Amino acid sequence: MTATVVVGASSELGHALARAYSRSGLPLVVTAREATAARGIADSLGEHAHGFALDVTDRASIDEFADAIGGLGVKIRNLALVAGARGSNFTNRYDQDSARQVFDVRPFGYAQVVASMQGSLDADASILLFGGVAFHRPSPGSLSVAPAVGALIGLVNALAVDMAPVRVNGIHPGPVGDSTSIRGWPEEKRAQATSRTLIGRLVTIDEVVHAARFLLDSTAMNGVNLPVEGGYLLT
Ligand SMILES: NC(=O)c1ccc[n+]([C@@H]2O[C@H](COP(=O)([O-])OP(=O)(O)OC[C@H]3O[C@@H](n4cnc5c(N)ncnc54)[C@H](OP(=O)(O)O)[C@@H]3O)[C@@H](O)[C@H]2O)c1
Repeated sequence: MTATVVVGASSELGHALARAYSRSGLPLVVTAREATAARGIADSLGEHAHGFALDVTDRASIDEFADAIGGLGVKIRNLALVAGARGSNFTNRYDQDSARQVFDVRPFGYAQVVASMQGSLDADASILLFGGVAFHRPSPGSLSVAPAVGALIGLVNALAVDMAPVRVNGIHPGPVGDSTSIRGWPEEKRAQATSRTLIGRLVTIDEVVHAARFLLDSTAMNGVNLPVEGGYLLT
């Protein structure tokens, strides 16, 4: 029996992706840093879903999670890493510690989770890492996030080569218009971002989930860093 694992299912995108996979009725594993939150998400997804705590920056937590997966007696078919760290960082008040915290989640945390899950992967496993557009289109204050996404793009390429024939892809959403963080943007900032898309609107959670499933499920997709941003990168 194979399972889909969504790391960071407490995020809106992670939860929506987990919900989409839950419809198959196949085993599903969801994580949040808090065990109670993870179990609550699993309960909302049905009896084939299991919730475990996982902090991707903490090696002991990753080892415990790997043991928990082993205990389920399933192989991982899909591994989606959705957990993300935010944090503005400006040149005139550069904070190296907060930059390190962003890097600790991705690329370092993502790389360690993938490495620690290696023994649990199905022969046809597919891995998806979530990034963003900050590397190619940084905003002011992107001194932590833009280089972290750049490193993630490199990690996707390196993992695809290192883990072959396991497939590894990256998904890079533009601002997701119906996500809480973007809904909270001031109207002017939102209008400016919208005007930079070629589709005349920001992408939606459903559209990102659709693209994520395409990368996870399409057996020819490998080593791809896919922007999902409605043409934002062309303007
Ligand atoms: N929303 C957007 O417009 C947008 C655009 C581009 C890219 N993205 C990326 O898409 C992903 C989801 O975004 P979102 O807006 O839905 O959610 P979000 O608000 O960025 O959620 C962050 C998630 O990361 C988890 N997390 C943070 N630190 C962690 C750690 N050390 N270990 C494990 N989990 C950790 C949080 O889990 P806890 O419950 O444990 O706190 C939470 O589930 C993120 O990677 C984000 O960067 C989002």
